[in-house]
Amino acid sequence: MNGPWVEKYRPQTLDEIVGQDHIIQRLKRYVVEGSMPNLMFTGPAGVGKTTTALALAKTVLGEYWRQNFLELNASDARGIDTVRKDIKNFCRLKSVGAPFRLIFLDEVDNMTKDAQHALRREMEMYTKTSSFILSCNYSSKIIDPIQSRCAIFRFTPIKGHQIIKRLKKIADSENIQTTPSALESIVYFAEGDMRRAVNILQASSTIDKEITEESVHEVVSKAKPRDVRKIINKALEGNFMEARDQLREVMVVQGTSGEDMITQIYQEVSKMAMEGLIEEDAYVDLIENIGKFDYRIREGSNPRIQLEALLTKFLLKGKE
Ligand SMILES: Nc1ncnc2c1ncn2[C@@H]1O[C@H](COP(=O)(O)OP(=O)(O)OP(=O)(O)O)[C@@H](O)[C@H]1O
Ligand SMILES: [Mg+2]
Repeated sequence: MNGPWVEKYRPQTLDEIVGQDHIIQRLKRYVVEGSMPNLMFTGPAGVGKTTTALALAKTVLGEYWRQNFLELNASDARGIDTVRKDIKNFCRLKSVGAPFRLIFLDEVDNMTKDAQHALRREMEMYTKTSSFILSCNYSSKIIDPIQSRCAIFRFTPIKGHQIIKRLKKIADSENIQTTPSALESIVYFAEGDMRRAVNILQASSTIDKEITEESVHEVVSKAKPRDVRKIINKALEGNFMEARDQLREVMVVQGTSGEDMITQIYQEVSKMAMEGLIEEDAYVDLIENIGKFDYRIREGSNPRIQLEALLTKFLLKGKE
């Protein structure tokens, strides 16, 4: 193996980025115009925010992009003052061989409000020479004065068929075989996160020459969807003790965490409702309960007790 595939297969150009089409189109206009406002990239993990920032930098700054590009992490262990000092030192210098300088600041939602206000002042001070790209998972955590100074780009989870296409391409380059069900199950576990999908693919490839659904399940510490459905069905039939035993077994064998388990129960119940296997009234009631128990688990209650208590809410809710 030669290093992480997420780096090896990180798209280098805007055209290579999967999904996010309308974002890429808007960004290409800046390339043509040769100027750029401050940008804010928001969205879930592993969908291409950092990748897009790097590809954009290379495209707008051209040959000398390295000299004119500064990448910083707002939650840098050395503290926010160091980050601001780095910004100041960088912005003070004029751009060389490029139209302007570009600062990419990652994880801005981890900055305190005070630090964000200071950042906003810096953004104003250097508008003539530099553009900022701020990246965060939640734009709601960013103060309004910064939001209003940025063009906001909302990145979305990557669609299943797009993940599959990308994984196939990577598998081809690495000369490995994959079964269709293996790819489907990577999509299921990745939940729209391309980084996670590529990481699962790489980890699975160390198990066998051909990646199967089984090898995927071996590397993912989550329950198999069909096991989750079995547990739910047992409970819906009113068979509590068997549902409980299966829940325990799955969690021990796969090492599934309480948080992951309840998310998977939610996914499976929703699927079952869509397939018409659970009545709407029952579904509404179950979702309300899943929400309640999910909160308790995340607040630190014993996950096994909470999950078993949740199962009691399923009893006899199945369709006749
Ligand atoms: N849209 C995409 N197209 C192709 N590959 C992608 C895409 N998004 C993510 N990847 C893969 O996942 C890796 C991580 O992506 P990236 O660093 O851009 O995620 P991010 O959105 O910045 O996530 P975070 O919020 O965790 O910082 C990339 O190196 C690449 O291999
Ligand atoms: Mg990132």
